Amino acid sequence: MEEPLFSPGDVARLVGAAATVAGAAELTDTLEALVETGMDLTGAKYGALGVLGTHGFLKEFIHKGIPLDVVDQIGPPPAGHGLLGTITRRGGGVRIPHIADHPDSVGFPEHHPPMDSFLGVPIRVADEVYGNLYLTDKEGGFLEEDMALVEALAIIGGSAIANARLSRRLRTVAIVEDRERIARDLHDAIIQDIFAVGLGLQALAGRIDDSEIADEIRDATGRLDESITSLRRFIFDLRPPVWAQRRIREELIDLADSLADSYTSQVELLFRGEVDNLPDRLFDEILPIVRESLSNALRHAGAVKITTTLERRAQQLIIRTVDDGAGFDIEAVGDGMGLENLRTRASDLGGFAEITSGVGTGTTVEVTLPL
Ligand SMILES: Nc1ncnc2c1ncn2[C@@H]1O[C@H](COP(=O)(O)OP(=O)(O)OP(=O)(O)O)[C@@H](O)[C@H]1O
Ligand SMILES: [Mg+2]
Repeated sequence: MEEPLFSPGDVARLVGAAATVAGAAELTDTLEALVETGMDLTGAKYGALGVLGTHGFLKEFIHKGIPLDVVDQIGPPPAGHGLLGTITRRGGGVRIPHIADHPDSVGFPEHHPPMDSFLGVPIRVADEVYGNLYLTDKEGGFLEEDMALVEALAIIGGSAIANARLSRRLRTVAIVEDRERIARDLHDAIIQDIFAVGLGLQALAGRIDDSEIADEIRDATGRLDESITSLRRFIFDLRPPVWAQRRIREELIDLADSLADSYTSQVELLFRGEVDNLPDRLFDEILPIVRESLSNALRHAGAVKITTTLERRAQQLIIRTVDDGAGFDIEAVGDGMGLENLRTRASDLGGFAEITSGVGTGTTVEVTLPL
């Protein structure tokens, strides 16, 4: 009867190796885990993984076992010309008792520690050679069963690399979806701005024989320019490091100023609690919430006074807009796009929106977000 390829101990170690390699979160971690488990499985003193670029040369070289200061002395990583290229050319595993005796060996650069025995196998991802796993310096040389173990590890590694690539692609999809959501927000914001400009032009139309007409049209056009500028800033600000530098007070004051520009209602902004260093993820949600509730009050309420409050409590952030205007019957009117967006935004963040209004009593829109 033929000897089994792996002993029960080998199988247990391979399963452990598979768990380590498959458990890595990032591609680099996967590659490092492959090198480490290869060394563990065989007892090699050194291990490395070369990722193939074009023309069979190594575009990345991950290695273990050589102390960092020695690595610095050795200089640039190998390109895969000598023995390291042999595996790529052959497309199969190579096991050599003494590196120096091999015809493909080109020798080591200065400061490189001596390495004697060698074992290398290709790692395939979906039929293509992705790279090679190299192990060197096992005492007494590598055995046939080491080769079998490392070949099994290479198969596990290939599927782990494919997985890591897939999950990276899925993350990219998630980012694209996030972008789409932001684009939708931008769209909403633009509608509000253009609406305000439209009102300005409307008022102008009623006084068409006024001598100041040219100046007012210029003002209105200026507003359009500002909208474009604010849109640009919006997109620019999507870059995370910039979010971190922004100041919510200033942004809200700017927003309220620009929204209230064409209305007679008096707008008041209040800040309560420590609102100056809010988590980034909330920062970009506050502006559209205020924009919607404030512009609703300006456009629909005919209010004398509107108060928007940003309040930070221990576990919650409250964004409240109160107006003393006409109010409306929530049951009868229902939600438009604006209020619906606002509710969705709040619940997406694990919070909620409460809208209270009555004809003649004014409207309160209160959004509560968990911190
Ligand atoms: N503060 C308010 N005072 C009076 N009526 C309001 C107020 N807020 C909302 N409404 C009424 O509720 C309706 C729905 O509001 P919502 O913001 O959802 O839509 P909209 O403002 O009409 O449209 P959009 O927000 O898409 O531009 C409004 O059309 C208006 O009749
Ligand atoms: Mg609205």
